[in-house]
Amino acid sequence: MVSEGAPAASETAPEPGDAPAFDTSVAHVARVYNYWLGGKDNFAADRAAAQQAMAAFPDIVHSARANRAFLRRVVTYLAGTAGIRQFLDIGTGIPSANNTHEVAQSVAADCRIVYVDNDPVVLAHARALLTSTPEGATDYIDADLRNADQILGKATQTLDFSKPVAVMLMAILQHLNDDHDPYAVVARLMAAVPSGSYLALSHPAKDIHAAEMAEMANRLNQTMAEKVTFRTQAEVAPFFADLELLEPGMTNVPDWRPETAEEANSPAALWAGVARKP
Ligand SMILES: C[S@@+](CC[C@H](N)C(=O)[O-])C[C@H]1O[C@@H](n2cnc3c(N)ncnc32)[C@H](O)[C@@H]1O
Repeated sequence: MVSEGAPAASETAPEPGDAPAFDTSVAHVARVYNYWLGGKDNFAADRAAAQQAMAAFPDIVHSARANRAFLRRVVTYLAGTAGIRQFLDIGTGIPSANNTHEVAQSVAADCRIVYVDNDPVVLAHARALLTSTPEGATDYIDADLRNADQILGKATQTLDFSKPVAVMLMAILQHLNDDHDPYAVVARLMAAVPSGSYLALSHPAKDIHAAEMAEMANRLNQTMAEKVTFRTQAEVAPFFADLELLEPGMTNVPDWRPETAEEANSPAALWAGVARKP
């Protein structure tokens, strides 16, 4: 489904009656994360899982919100100073404040955005993501990050891979364990985009508030359908292999170019960075 230069929702987005069925008895990350962000698109199992995680790491709510602020700052920089006009946002999540297309197109109306997620709940909300300025475009692909070739194949309907693309992997790589070879997945995505493209990612940290994060991971792995693997700074760094990290390098999300004292002082535990493909 694609919204090309349409001021309103795509005609091909799901109608209310044909939203895909999903299991509400098991917690899913998109809805758990939505609860932490203060959203209403979650069910009892999601809220229970979210609250158990909060009991282990109370700052998870600040951390999730700091992650969204990081996303907004990154997209503003990429569409503005860096001049990027194409975004591939994988692991989109349920629409929230400052979705990628809203931020990017508020900076440059001709930005083209492809969203990717594998959660049927996010698919059911795709209508809210498939708005676009008349000059730009948005698209939504229902696909799994582990199948990078499928994502790249479908994204060519909206993105021109001969021109720079910002690949965004915000708080998603923790759902690929080491057997899924997440480094190869990211390398495959970055091999498909030309020089001048960017990789922007955030990843829950194993070595910030280590004891609390370990307990939260244990609880989420007992309650949530999608399992998590948190990683250390040294384990996140190889995702940026062969790329040029922008200043200030890899940091905890609040330390990446905060715009206000509130952003700078927010508790969080996510390694993050933005890098350019030379
Ligand atoms: C914690 S949310 C992050 C949302 C958003 N990127 C952000 O940073 O605000 C993770 C999202 O990744 C999606 N996700 C998890 N594993 C995935 C996979 N293997 N393929 C595609 N999407 C996935 C989930 O459905 C969820 O919407």
